[in-house]
Amino acid sequence: MGNRSDTISIDVAPVEIAQRRHAPLPENREVVFDVQDLGVRYGATTAVSGVDFDIYRNMITAVIGPSGCGKSTFIRCLNRMNDLVPGAQVDGKILYHGEDLYGSGVDPVEVRRRIGMVFQRPNPFPKSIYDNVAWGPRVLGMRKDLDERVERALRGAALWEEVKDRLKRSALSLSGGQQQRLCIARAIAIEPEVLLLDEPASALDPIATTSIEELMHGLKRDFTLVIVTHNMQQAARVADMTAFFSLEVGEGRRTGVLVEYDATEKIFTNPSDQRTEDYVTGRFG
Ligand SMILES: Nc1ncnc2c1ncn2[C@@H]1O[C@H](COP(=O)(O)OP(=O)(O)O)[C@@H](O)[C@H]1O
Ligand SMILES: [Mg+2]
Repeated sequence: MGNRSDTISIDVAPVEIAQRRHAPLPENREVVFDVQDLGVRYGATTAVSGVDFDIYRNMITAVIGPSGCGKSTFIRCLNRMNDLVPGAQVDGKILYHGEDLYGSGVDPVEVRRRIGMVFQRPNPFPKSIYDNVAWGPRVLGMRKDLDERVERALRGAALWEEVKDRLKRSALSLSGGQQQRLCIARAIAIEPEVLLLDEPASALDPIATTSIEELMHGLKRDFTLVIVTHNMQQAARVADMTAFFSLEVGEGRRTGVLVEYDATEKIFTNPSDQRTEDYVTGRFG
Protein backbone atom coordinates (compact mmCIF):
# COMPACT_ATOMS: atom_id res chain seq x y z
CA MET A 1 0.00 0.00 0.00
CA GLY A 2 2.75 2.38 1.00
CA ASN A 3 4.43 1.79 -2.34
CA ARG A 4 1.27 2.41 -4.25
CA SER A 5 0.61 5.82 -2.70
CA ASP A 6 4.26 6.73 -3.33
CA THR A 7 3.80 5.85 -6.95
CA ILE A 8 0.64 7.90 -7.18
CA SER A 9 2.20 10.97 -5.64
CA ILE A 10 5.12 10.74 -8.02
CA ASP A 11 2.79 10.39 -10.97
CA VAL A 12 0.52 13.20 -9.95
CA ALA A 13 2.92 15.88 -8.80
CA PRO A 14 4.46 16.82 -12.16
CA VAL A 15 1.03 17.02 -13.76
CA GLU A 16 -0.21 19.38 -11.09
CA ILE A 17 2.77 21.63 -11.54
CA ALA A 18 2.35 21.63 -15.28
CA GLN A 19 -1.32 22.48 -14.97
CA ARG A 20 -0.65 25.32 -12.61
CA ARG A 21 1.93 26.76 -14.97
CA HIS A 22 -0.33 26.32 -17.98
CA ALA A 23 -2.33 29.03 -16.29
CA PRO A 24 -5.93 28.59 -17.33
CA LEU A 25 -7.50 25.23 -16.69
CA PRO A 26 -10.21 24.74 -19.29
CA GLU A 27 -12.95 24.59 -16.64
CA ASN A 28 -11.83 27.97 -15.26
CA ARG A 29 -11.89 29.75 -18.57
CA GLU A 30 -14.64 32.24 -19.13
CA VAL A 31 -14.91 33.27 -22.74
CA VAL A 32 -14.98 37.03 -23.33
CA PHE A 33 -14.46 37.00 -27.11
CA ASP A 34 -15.45 34.13 -29.35
CA VAL A 35 -13.81 34.93 -32.68
CA GLN A 36 -15.30 32.99 -35.57
CA ASP A 37 -13.79 32.82 -39.05
CA LEU A 38 -12.76 36.47 -38.87
CA GLY A 39 -11.32 38.16 -41.92
CA VAL A 40 -10.37 41.73 -42.74
CA ARG A 41 -9.83 43.24 -46.17
CA TYR A 42 -8.51 46.65 -47.09
CA GLY A 43 -9.91 47.16 -50.56
CA ALA A 44 -8.59 44.24 -52.63
CA THR A 45 -6.00 43.23 -50.00
CA THR A 46 -6.91 40.53 -47.52
CA ALA A 47 -4.96 41.38 -44.37
CA VAL A 48 -6.13 38.42 -42.25
CA SER A 49 -8.52 35.56 -42.85
CA GLY A 50 -10.01 32.54 -41.11
CA VAL A 51 -9.13 33.64 -37.57
CA ASP A 52 -10.93 31.48 -35.03
CA PHE A 53 -10.27 31.39 -31.29
CA ASP A 54 -11.58 32.29 -27.83
CA ILE A 55 -10.15 34.97 -25.55
CA TYR A 56 -10.58 34.38 -21.84
CA ARG A 57 -11.47 36.64 -18.95
CA ASN A 58 -8.84 37.99 -16.53
CA MET A 59 -6.01 36.64 -18.57
CA ILE A 60 -3.35 38.19 -20.70
CA THR A 61 -3.53 36.98 -24.28
CA ALA A 62 -0.59 37.83 -26.50
CA VAL A 63 -0.79 38.10 -30.27
CA ILE A 64 2.62 37.51 -31.83
CA GLY A 65 3.94 37.11 -35.34
CA PRO A 66 6.05 38.80 -38.00
CA SER A 67 5.47 42.34 -39.18
CA GLY A 68 2.50 42.69 -41.51
CA CYS A 69 0.74 39.46 -40.45
CA GLY A 70 -2.29 41.40 -39.27
CA LYS A 71 -1.80 41.68 -35.52
CA SER A 72 -2.90 45.31 -35.32
CA THR A 73 -5.68 44.68 -37.81
CA PHE A 74 -6.90 41.81 -35.66
CA ILE A 75 -7.01 43.60 -32.33
CA ARG A 76 -8.68 46.61 -33.89
CA CYS A 77 -11.58 44.25 -34.67
CA LEU A 78 -12.07 43.55 -30.97
CA ASN A 79 -13.33 47.06 -30.21
CA ARG A 80 -14.54 47.99 -33.69
CA MET A 81 -11.71 50.42 -34.28
CA ASN A 82 -11.57 49.17 -37.87
CA ASP A 83 -14.96 50.84 -38.35
CA LEU A 84 -12.94 54.06 -38.35
CA VAL A 85 -10.36 52.85 -40.89
CA PRO A 86 -11.34 53.84 -44.44
CA GLY A 87 -11.75 50.84 -46.73
CA ALA A 88 -11.56 48.23 -43.98
CA GLN A 89 -14.12 45.43 -44.38
CA VAL A 90 -14.62 42.96 -41.54
CA ASP A 91 -16.08 39.50 -42.26
CA GLY A 92 -16.92 36.62 -39.95
CA LYS A 93 -18.10 37.02 -36.43
CA ILE A 94 -16.98 38.13 -33.00
CA LEU A 95 -19.17 37.26 -30.06
CA TYR A 96 -18.53 39.38 -26.97
CA HIS A 97 -20.05 37.58 -23.98
CA GLY A 98 -22.13 35.72 -26.51
CA GLU A 99 -23.44 38.84 -28.22
CA ASP A 100 -22.57 39.70 -31.82
CA LEU A 101 -20.16 42.64 -31.51
CA TYR A 102 -21.09 43.73 -35.04
CA GLY A 103 -24.83 43.20 -34.58
CA SER A 104 -27.21 45.90 -35.79
CA GLY A 105 -28.28 47.00 -32.31
CA VAL A 106 -24.72 47.45 -31.03
CA ASP A 107 -23.38 50.97 -30.49
CA PRO A 108 -19.67 51.07 -31.44
CA VAL A 109 -19.08 53.97 -29.02
CA GLU A 110 -20.35 51.84 -26.15
CA VAL A 111 -18.17 48.97 -27.40
CA ARG A 112 -15.11 51.23 -27.20
CA ARG A 113 -16.09 52.32 -23.71
CA ARG A 114 -16.10 48.75 -22.50
CA ILE A 115 -13.09 47.72 -24.54
CA GLY A 116 -10.31 50.28 -24.18
CA MET A 117 -7.18 50.60 -26.27
CA VAL A 118 -3.59 51.67 -25.71
CA PHE A 119 -1.35 52.32 -28.69
CA GLN A 120 2.30 51.87 -29.57
CA ARG A 121 3.27 55.51 -29.14
CA PRO A 122 2.16 57.14 -25.91
CA ASN A 123 -0.40 59.71 -27.04
CA PRO A 124 -1.42 61.85 -24.06
CA PHE A 125 -3.46 64.94 -24.81
CA PRO A 126 -1.57 68.25 -24.46
CA LYS A 127 -3.37 68.85 -21.19
CA SER A 128 -2.54 68.38 -17.54
CA ILE A 129 -1.93 64.94 -16.08
CA TYR A 130 -5.20 65.26 -14.18
CA ASP A 131 -7.21 66.34 -17.21
CA ASN A 132 -5.89 63.46 -19.28
CA VAL A 133 -7.25 60.92 -16.81
CA ALA A 134 -10.44 62.89 -16.13
CA TRP A 135 -11.19 63.33 -19.83
CA GLY A 136 -13.05 60.04 -20.41
CA PRO A 137 -15.08 60.21 -17.20
CA ARG A 138 -16.06 63.81 -17.99
CA VAL A 139 -17.14 62.95 -21.54
CA LEU A 140 -19.23 60.09 -20.18
CA GLY A 141 -20.76 62.18 -17.41
CA MET A 142 -19.00 60.27 -14.62
CA ARG A 143 -18.35 63.47 -12.68
CA LYS A 144 -19.13 62.19 -9.23
CA ASP A 145 -16.04 61.81 -7.02
CA LEU A 146 -13.85 62.65 -9.98
CA ASP A 147 -10.74 63.26 -7.86
CA GLU A 148 -11.05 59.79 -6.34
CA ARG A 149 -11.61 58.27 -9.76
CA VAL A 150 -8.50 59.96 -11.16
CA GLU A 151 -6.43 58.84 -8.18
CA ARG A 152 -7.72 55.28 -8.48
CA ALA A 153 -6.85 55.12 -12.17
CA LEU A 154 -3.38 56.57 -11.58
CA ARG A 155 -2.79 54.08 -8.78
CA GLY A 156 -4.07 51.30 -11.03
CA ALA A 157 -1.53 52.32 -13.65
CA ALA A 158 1.28 52.44 -11.04
CA LEU A 159 1.83 56.14 -11.66
CA TRP A 160 0.23 57.84 -8.66
CA GLU A 161 3.31 58.09 -6.45
CA GLU A 162 5.29 59.71 -9.26
CA VAL A 163 2.72 62.35 -10.18
CA LYS A 164 0.55 63.00 -7.14
CA ASP A 165 2.33 66.31 -6.42
CA ARG A 166 2.14 67.62 -9.96
CA LEU A 167 -1.27 66.69 -11.29
CA LYS A 168 -1.66 70.15 -12.84
CA ARG A 169 1.57 69.85 -14.84
CA SER A 170 1.41 69.06 -18.53
CA ALA A 171 1.27 65.37 -19.40
CA LEU A 172 3.93 66.13 -22.00
CA SER A 173 6.43 66.84 -19.20
CA LEU A 174 6.44 63.14 -18.32
CA SER A 175 8.94 60.57 -19.59
CA GLY A 176 7.88 58.16 -22.34
CA GLY A 177 7.27 55.33 -19.89
CA GLN A 178 5.26 57.60 -17.60
CA GLN A 179 3.25 58.86 -20.57
CA GLN A 180 2.40 55.29 -21.53
CA ARG A 181 1.28 54.51 -17.98
CA LEU A 182 -0.76 57.71 -18.11
CA CYS A 183 -2.44 56.41 -21.27
CA ILE A 184 -3.22 53.20 -19.41
CA ALA A 185 -4.63 55.27 -16.52
CA ARG A 186 -6.72 57.23 -19.02
CA ALA A 187 -8.02 53.96 -20.48
CA ILE A 188 -8.92 52.39 -17.12
CA ALA A 189 -10.46 55.57 -15.65
CA ILE A 190 -13.76 54.75 -17.35
CA GLU A 191 -13.68 51.20 -15.99
CA PRO A 192 -13.60 49.16 -19.17
CA GLU A 193 -13.71 45.39 -19.02
CA VAL A 194 -11.04 44.75 -21.62
CA LEU A 195 -7.79 46.53 -22.44
CA LEU A 196 -6.26 46.12 -25.88
CA LEU A 197 -2.59 47.06 -26.04
CA ASP A 198 -0.88 47.30 -29.42
CA GLU A 199 2.89 47.07 -28.89
CA PRO A 200 2.57 49.22 -25.76
CA ALA A 201 6.26 49.05 -24.88
CA SER A 202 7.96 49.06 -28.25
CA ALA A 203 8.75 52.79 -28.07
CA LEU A 204 10.09 52.52 -24.50
CA ASP A 205 13.47 51.82 -22.94
CA PRO A 206 14.06 48.51 -21.10
CA ILE A 207 13.34 49.90 -17.62
CA ALA A 208 10.07 51.49 -18.71
CA THR A 209 9.23 48.26 -20.54
CA THR A 210 9.70 46.25 -17.37
CA SER A 211 7.39 48.54 -15.45
CA ILE A 212 4.71 48.20 -18.15
CA GLU A 213 5.05 44.41 -18.01
CA GLU A 214 4.76 44.39 -14.22
CA LEU A 215 1.78 46.68 -14.47
CA MET A 216 0.04 44.27 -16.85
CA HIS A 217 0.44 41.42 -14.38
CA GLY A 218 -1.37 43.52 -11.78
CA LEU A 219 -4.08 44.67 -14.18
CA LYS A 220 -5.27 41.22 -15.13
CA ARG A 221 -6.96 40.85 -11.75
CA ASP A 222 -9.45 43.51 -12.82
CA PHE A 223 -9.31 43.40 -16.61
CA THR A 224 -8.98 41.09 -19.56
CA LEU A 225 -5.90 42.07 -21.54
CA VAL A 226 -4.97 41.45 -25.15
CA ILE A 227 -1.49 42.56 -26.11
CA VAL A 228 0.13 42.67 -29.52
CA THR A 229 3.86 42.34 -29.36
CA HIS A 230 6.60 41.50 -31.82
CA ASN A 231 8.83 40.81 -28.81
CA MET A 232 8.61 37.09 -28.12
CA GLN A 233 10.35 37.32 -24.77
CA GLN A 234 7.75 39.83 -23.72
CA ALA A 235 4.92 37.49 -24.71
CA ALA A 236 6.62 34.65 -22.83
CA ARG A 237 7.00 36.86 -19.75
CA VAL A 238 3.54 38.35 -19.56
CA ALA A 239 0.98 36.24 -21.38
CA ASP A 240 -1.14 33.33 -20.17
CA MET A 241 -2.29 32.48 -23.67
CA THR A 242 -0.50 33.18 -26.94
CA ALA A 243 -1.84 33.37 -30.48
CA PHE A 244 0.79 33.04 -33.20
CA PHE A 245 -0.11 34.66 -36.51
CA SER A 246 1.89 34.19 -39.67
CA LEU A 247 1.82 35.16 -43.33
CA GLU A 248 0.55 32.65 -45.82
CA VAL A 249 1.99 33.31 -49.23
CA GLY A 250 0.21 32.17 -52.37
CA GLU A 251 -0.47 33.47 -55.88
CA GLY A 252 1.45 36.63 -55.18
CA ARG A 253 -0.72 37.43 -52.16
CA ARG A 254 0.24 37.47 -48.52
CA THR A 255 -2.51 36.89 -45.99
CA GLY A 256 -2.26 36.82 -42.21
CA VAL A 257 -3.51 33.60 -40.63
CA LEU A 258 -3.72 32.27 -37.10
CA VAL A 259 -1.30 29.35 -37.01
CA GLU A 260 -1.57 28.23 -33.41
CA TYR A 261 -3.21 29.31 -30.18
CA ASP A 262 -2.46 27.74 -26.83
CA ALA A 263 -1.12 28.29 -23.33
CA THR A 264 1.99 30.47 -23.62
CA GLU A 265 4.27 27.83 -22.17
CA LYS A 266 3.11 25.30 -24.75
CA ILE A 267 3.64 27.74 -27.60
CA PHE A 268 7.19 28.46 -26.48
CA THR A 269 8.33 25.02 -25.35
CA ASN A 270 6.32 22.47 -27.28
CA PRO A 271 4.35 24.03 -30.13
CA SER A 272 2.18 21.79 -32.29
CA ASP A 273 2.90 23.49 -35.60
CA GLN A 274 6.27 23.52 -37.35
CA ARG A 275 5.76 27.17 -38.36
CA THR A 276 5.34 28.15 -34.71
CA GLU A 277 8.45 26.23 -33.77
CA ASP A 278 10.47 27.90 -36.52
CA TYR A 279 9.30 31.31 -35.36
CA VAL A 280 9.82 30.91 -31.63
CA THR A 281 13.23 29.32 -32.09
CA GLY A 282 14.30 32.15 -34.41
CA ARG A 283 14.50 29.94 -37.49
CA PHE A 284 11.84 32.03 -39.17
CA GLY A 285 13.11 33.25 -42.54
N1 LIG B 1 -5.32 51.21 -42.94
C1 LIG B 1 -4.84 50.29 -43.80
N2 LIG B 1 -5.10 50.39 -45.12
C2 LIG B 1 -4.63 49.49 -46.00
N3 LIG B 1 -3.86 48.44 -45.67
C3 LIG B 1 -3.57 48.27 -44.37
C4 LIG B 1 -4.03 49.19 -43.36
N4 LIG B 1 -3.57 48.78 -42.15
C5 LIG B 1 -2.86 47.66 -42.39
N5 LIG B 1 -2.85 47.35 -43.72
C6 LIG B 1 -2.20 46.18 -44.36
O1 LIG B 1 -2.69 45.01 -43.71
C7 LIG B 1 -1.64 44.08 -43.48
C8 LIG B 1 -1.55 43.81 -41.98
O2 LIG B 1 -1.10 44.98 -41.32
P1 LIG B 1 -1.06 45.12 -39.74
O3 LIG B 1 -2.35 44.68 -39.20
O4 LIG B 1 -0.61 46.50 -39.43
O5 LIG B 1 0.07 44.04 -39.37
P2 LIG B 1 1.00 43.93 -38.06
O6 LIG B 1 0.38 44.73 -36.98
O7 LIG B 1 1.06 42.46 -37.79
O8 LIG B 1 2.36 44.44 -38.47
C9 LIG B 1 -0.38 44.72 -44.07
O9 LIG B 1 -0.22 44.23 -45.36
C10 LIG B 1 -0.70 46.19 -44.08
O10 LIG B 1 -0.03 46.84 -45.12
MG1 LIG C 1 1.04 46.33 -35.81
